[in-house]
Amino acid sequence: MNIGNLAINGGPKTRETPFGSGARYGETEKKEIMEVLANDRLSYWSKFKVNSFCDRVKEYFSCGYCAGGSSGSAVIHAAVAALEIPPGYEVISSPITDIGTLIGVLYQNLIPVFADVDPHTYNLTAESIRSRITDRTRAIIVVHLAGNPCEMDEIMELAREYKIPVIEDCAQAYNSIYKGRKAGTIGSAGCFSLNESKHISCGDGGFAITDDEELFYRIHNYLDKYYDRFQRGNRMFRLAPCYRLSELQYAVALAQLDKIDAITDTRARHAESLTRQIEHNAAISVPKVYPHSRSSFWFYMFRLIPGKISCSINDFVKALNAEGISAVAGYIPRPIYLEKMFTEKAFFPGGVWPAELAAGKTYTYEPGLCPAAEEVLTSAVRVPVSEFFTSRDVDDIAAAINKVLAVYRK
Ligand SMILES: Cc1ncc(COP(=O)(O)O)c(C=O)c1O
Repeated sequence: MNIGNLAINGGPKTRETPFGSGARYGETEKKEIMEVLANDRLSYWSKFKVNSFCDRVKEYFSCGYCAGGSSGSAVIHAAVAALEIPPGYEVISSPITDIGTLIGVLYQNLIPVFADVDPHTYNLTAESIRSRITDRTRAIIVVHLAGNPCEMDEIMELAREYKIPVIEDCAQAYNSIYKGRKAGTIGSAGCFSLNESKHISCGDGGFAITDDEELFYRIHNYLDKYYDRFQRGNRMFRLAPCYRLSELQYAVALAQLDKIDAITDTRARHAESLTRQIEHNAAISVPKVYPHSRSSFWFYMFRLIPGKISCSINDFVKALNAEGISAVAGYIPRPIYLEKMFTEKAFFPGGVWPAELAAGKTYTYEPGLCPAAEEVLTSAVRVPVSEFFTSRDVDDIAAAINKVLAVYRK
């Protein structure tokens, strides 16, 4: 093994110069904001930019309804609440996700149930979901992780079999395509995040799309205190949070919508190029995207195959960092269910978990619940992918990965 060649051992660095970067917000965002200020009303109920935003979203997704809210977590919460599930029932979701997928489940006094992921797509599968369905299951929240669509035909077939609604968490999945359909348009509702790190952003925000008129009104009500803004006669019908977004943010989000395709196309092109350049390595597995799907690659995560690498994942990442590549180990540090809040069921103070009381049975969250998810997170390496990168940036990332693998593969 010639370890001398690696930058970490004093060899030449693969990449000395900064990677491509750029401004996310510009003249179009400024123009939209100035129009809001000129309108002299910042509340979404002015129906100014919020309406333009929702109209543009509906056009982009060819869907019937759009409701905006203050974050991805907020719109997922509203969508879950809008399903009108009584406390104590179960919602199946992924253990590899942001807690925002589950905040609403917990606040609605529902029980998160975790199904395992496919070790190559890192997504829930119909099979893993089926293994978790009980007579208490009332919803499924799929997460299109990193923008890679779940296998929705099988999942929707299962959902129809059991008459369980599916919410799509599309926080990372703008313009992710599954068999010609955009992620978010397949389940009962699709929920998107506009936080600073996402493909498009307005600082913080989110929106839910649906074709179901009644579901839309309920989502809308749950985003705004159940104030019955459309005067349908159900004011304060339920307890609902205040998850409104201001006109200033809708203005920015509106301008950002026009950028989705360029951003996602570039990211997908870069990620596909990276896959082509590194997939020959037997010591790693590249993220699997089905031929009928298109991932929008919010991040690029490959895995080191256990037993085929002679160093630890941390040493592998350090070697990549020394080559000038800002790689990191894993995605979230551990599956969501291994966070202390879950293992100790400390969702609320005082050792009381109302959802469990309502269910009348005990739930446990412990290691081994989803073995594939646990293995993915301990063997995954994330490298950056950005719409601002050039082909050379991608080639250098690939070269660095190949260089480090040449030394550390067994
Ligand atoms: C998969 C997923 N779901 C939900 C969320 C929550 O979105 P927000 O941060 O806008 O609340 C995020 C954000 O990181 C996410 O990545």
